[in-house]
Amino acid sequence: MNIKTNLTKTLCIAASVLLLTTMDAHAKRFKVAVGDAGGSAQHELGKKFAEELKRLSGGKHRAKLFLNGQLGSEQDTVNDAALGTLDMSLLAINNITPFSPTVGLFTLPYVILSLDDAVKLTQGPVGQELVENTIRDAKVRIIGWTYTGFRVLTNSKKPVRTVADLEGLVIRVPKNEIMLDTYKSWGINASPMAWSETFTALQQKVVDGQDNPYLTVHSMKFYEVQKYITNIRYIFSIEPLIVSEEIFQGLDEETRQVLIEAGKLATMHSAEHLRKSEAAIREDLIARGMEIMDPADGEKEFIERATQAVWPKFYDSIGGKEKLDRVLEMLGRS
Ligand code: MLT
Repeated sequence: MNIKTNLTKTLCIAASVLLLTTMDAHAKRFKVAVGDAGGSAQHELGKKFAEELKRLSGGKHRAKLFLNGQLGSEQDTVNDAALGTLDMSLLAINNITPFSPTVGLFTLPYVILSLDDAVKLTQGPVGQELVENTIRDAKVRIIGWTYTGFRVLTNSKKPVRTVADLEGLVIRVPKNEIMLDTYKSWGINASPMAWSETFTALQQKVVDGQDNPYLTVHSMKFYEVQKYITNIRYIFSIEPLIVSEEIFQGLDEETRQVLIEAGKLATMHSAEHLRKSEAAIREDLIARGMEIMDPADGEKEFIERATQAVWPKFYDSIGGKEKLDRVLEMLGRS
């Protein structure tokens, strides 16, 4: 009797182990590169995505976040995902533009003027078209959108209220033609530099300033090395979650749908997070010693110079002037 019971028990355990091993073979552990630090808008979206992925897959699939550029510069992670050597990455859209120029639409200065504009564009046909273009051009699929807020200018040297005040400042920008040309329209040659090198460059005063949203300035602790913030608000920062198209195509249909749904839920969470946290983060930057100012003339000179010089130069790469006109019309502007 005892021998029989023991044999049954052993067979049951063996069957469970076999079942778990088989299940495990299909369970995914996605590696997600994250350009920013813990506490950033990217991190917030990444955490929500990982949580939803686990929940929607009944605990089968997981995502592990690698913060602070641990897996390489943001632009390098696009290459790695395209090659299928990295599963996913969370990065600023301006770092995808070099691989898929039409997403430059979201980096053109003063096109997106609010969070509502950003949500409308990313969640509508324009966003869908950019998802498809990015698959075609960069071999990565956007499955989520982080909304991080307006990129504001920070620097360690002096208050900046006018375009003329920029003179003499060395400003770091991403390796992005649209952003470099925007600074040119304001009279200075900015220094293109990878995001992963930016904090050290600010700290060692290789550069005087940079631009990124309040949430990013805060999570990256730029208040330790920067003093002044000017609300130039020229780009609303959108930071997609991308998945390697090669890896995505290798998944079964159910897992693909789970990724897409988890991405959508994380996107909605990101908009909510920005609405709830931005004002308090701004206050905390002031409490930590930063001085925040608006451009002197309601930003008129910054806007006029940038839109007049930069928009026409990039019509072709974003898909034509008509495309920009349609987008502006969609946003209720002419
Ligand atoms: C950049 O400036 O390169 C990006 O905005 C950095 C980021 O991902 O926050």
